[in-house]
Amino acid sequence: MTQVVAVVGLGTMGAGIVEVCLAAGHDVLAFDGFPEARAKGLERVHKGFARRVEKGTLAQADADAAIARLRAVEAIAELASADIVIEAVAEIPEIKHDLFRELGSVMQPSAILATNTSAISVTGIAEASGQPERVVGLHFFNPAPVMKLVEVVRTRLVDPQVYASAIEFAEGLDKEAVPCPDTPGFLVNRILVPMLNDAVRTLAETGADPIDIDRALKAGAGWPMGPLALIDLIGVDVQMHASQAIADGLGDEHYAPHPLLAEMVEEGRLGRKTGAGFHTYEAR
Ligand code: CAA
Repeated sequence: MTQVVAVVGLGTMGAGIVEVCLAAGHDVLAFDGFPEARAKGLERVHKGFARRVEKGTLAQADADAAIARLRAVEAIAELASADIVIEAVAEIPEIKHDLFRELGSVMQPSAILATNTSAISVTGIAEASGQPERVVGLHFFNPAPVMKLVEVVRTRLVDPQVYASAIEFAEGLDKEAVPCPDTPGFLVNRILVPMLNDAVRTLAETGADPIDIDRALKAGAGWPMGPLALIDLIGVDVQMHASQAIADGLGDEHYAPHPLLAEMVEEGRLGRKTGAGFHTYEAR
């Protein structure tokens, strides 16, 4: 069933989510508080559809029809009519809490309020919204148009009907919707983030070449891309924040980010998005 989906935050994840929702036939309202980020995000969405046409998986007319269902808006108030809003802004609890406080009052009472957070408490976000029974986590994976999984995060406060609708919505995007409890890192990141930290630790302690670490895990463990290249894809800063959030949430320093990640963030080496991380990339 076609729905009106609002997406807030048009970075890598937000733009990918917009593409996925348009491709599934929904109408999308897109918002980013930073005009430059909004322009870049919309360009990403166009590029995503151009890629599909180029690959021959989508006809040009269908791509045009999908793009025609996208409307960029300039204020949160313009999202009010959406059936579901998916937030994909910076992974900073205060920013998400403030946004959900606003969404809680702006969105129509039947709307589902979803966060794409990767490691922040969904319960905390739900409480901030003032409408905790309507809040779920819909955690997409990077690159969102490619990765099949959406973790559908359930808090103790959510209305079971709302949660069931969220599962149905994620499945309607042709994704694998996996129910998750609202625990730090949910399922995937609680396992993946420490593994990625161990790759950084191995790099720092052995002096092995990052290329060799990545080659080894690809050829020896069947990873589609090496762990250091994967951190570059998701963002060195995102890996650092996710590790810290899991460590704080579980009260276990074992999960804390390796210090090398903080050094890289300090130097602006955030991975693909800045052209350099553990590897170097052509400017985009
Ligand atoms: N957007 C859209 N499509 C993309 C894409 C992108 N950014 N990157 C690659 N693709 C598509 C390609 O077009 C290609 O499609 P076809 O097979 O239909 O032609 C397909 O994906 C494979 O791409 P490539 O051949 O270029 O390269 P690849 O085989 O190395 O695959 C990859 C790229 C899909 C990213 C693959 O390496 C992979 O699966 N890597 C692991 C990604 C992963 O683990 N993501 C989860 C990160 S953790 C996370 O996101 C959680 C969090 O909270 C931090």
